[in-house]
Amino acid sequence: MEQVPEFISQLPTPCCLIEKQKLQRNIARLSNHIGQLGCQIRPHVKTHKSIDVTREIINGGNVKGITVSTLREAQHFFEHGFSDILYAVGITPNKLEQVAQLMQSGCDIKIVLDNPDMANLILQTAQQLACTFKIMIELDTDGHRSGVDPKSDELIEIAKMLEGNEYTQLIGVMTHAGESYACFTHESKLAMAKQERDLSLLAAERLRQAGYACDEVSIGSSPTAHAIDNLDGITEVRAGVYVFFDLVMSGLQVCNQEDIAMSVLASVIGYQKDKNWVITDAGWMAMSRDRGTQSHSVDQGYGVVRDQQGKLLGDYIVNDANQEHGIVRHRDPNHGFSIDAFPLAGKVRVLPNHACSTAAQFDHFIVVDQDRVIAQWPSVRGW
Ligand SMILES: Cc1ncc(COP(=O)(O)O)c(C=O)c1O
Repeated sequence: MEQVPEFISQLPTPCCLIEKQKLQRNIARLSNHIGQLGCQIRPHVKTHKSIDVTREIINGGNVKGITVSTLREAQHFFEHGFSDILYAVGITPNKLEQVAQLMQSGCDIKIVLDNPDMANLILQTAQQLACTFKIMIELDTDGHRSGVDPKSDELIEIAKMLEGNEYTQLIGVMTHAGESYACFTHESKLAMAKQERDLSLLAAERLRQAGYACDEVSIGSSPTAHAIDNLDGITEVRAGVYVFFDLVMSGLQVCNQEDIAMSVLASVIGYQKDKNWVITDAGWMAMSRDRGTQSHSVDQGYGVVRDQQGKLLGDYIVNDANQEHGIVRHRDPNHGFSIDAFPLAGKVRVLPNHACSTAAQFDHFIVVDQDRVIAQWPSVRGW
């Protein structure tokens, strides 16, 4: 570890803190839940892009491979000994050469696609590369994003294109119920989780009945993974943000604010007292532009402001953000602030809306236990 201060109070700002005990608790919570349902987690490392965080996840148990969102992540994790990798963003032919190189180096990487035309393009490029790619068909189980309709003829058409040739091997189906981010009650999260599971099982069954292999049935998002109560027939659950949690997750009642393991440490750089504003050095460059709680009943601005120890200060949020300036005020604009709570050059912690977006603003995390710095963990960026 390069020279890092011993105490949080000595850290340069802005920086990204991870509370190790909370991280481990969040990891154990989902590992135990999925383990009790007889299944395994394929953690999505896009949340942190960190080898060290992934090692903590593995220590939590019930882990089967990893999920990545970029080939850069795939390369980085493979170089650090992870070989069972699902690249869970629809593939394009221009990425196949890089995937082929990873496979030739011994990486067991799986790719995804969701339509017959792309299957055709991939097949053509695979022939040129003389390489056999392992493919999962992406399903649309909630109308949120990409994927093929699990009930459609297209699903079978894709399978037909992928099977019966030596360049593509169909290994299963995968889906991500992103619409669970609009589910605010336990009942709605459970219903979404069952929908994600049941439509995936239906697609797998249709493929098998049509004579195609479908060994893997991969589902998951943090809200559905915590809500699901039966995983019979599912081979893995993917989740990412659950390791840190964030204000979106606490707004959805997947966790509470005390579970959030990540925060941004910021310094008070000034005030606009007539406007009840405290200015800090953590703007959107540190917090990210993600306003994920904007659609929630409680809009948390660019983050919830706590004291240096992470304790509640009252109802203060980062109400607005410029690139390197955070504008902090009470949720009630007429409510002032005390200089004791926000001393000039003093520090505050800001809980993020979306931990994945905030983490991506930094190239390392500062790992803390109470007021002590215990490690510095690098993360990877880029594509
Ligand atoms: C394909 C895929 N799988 C899994 C996840 C993990 O979801 P979450 O961060 O809600 O756990 C994501 C997140 O965007 C995803 O895109």
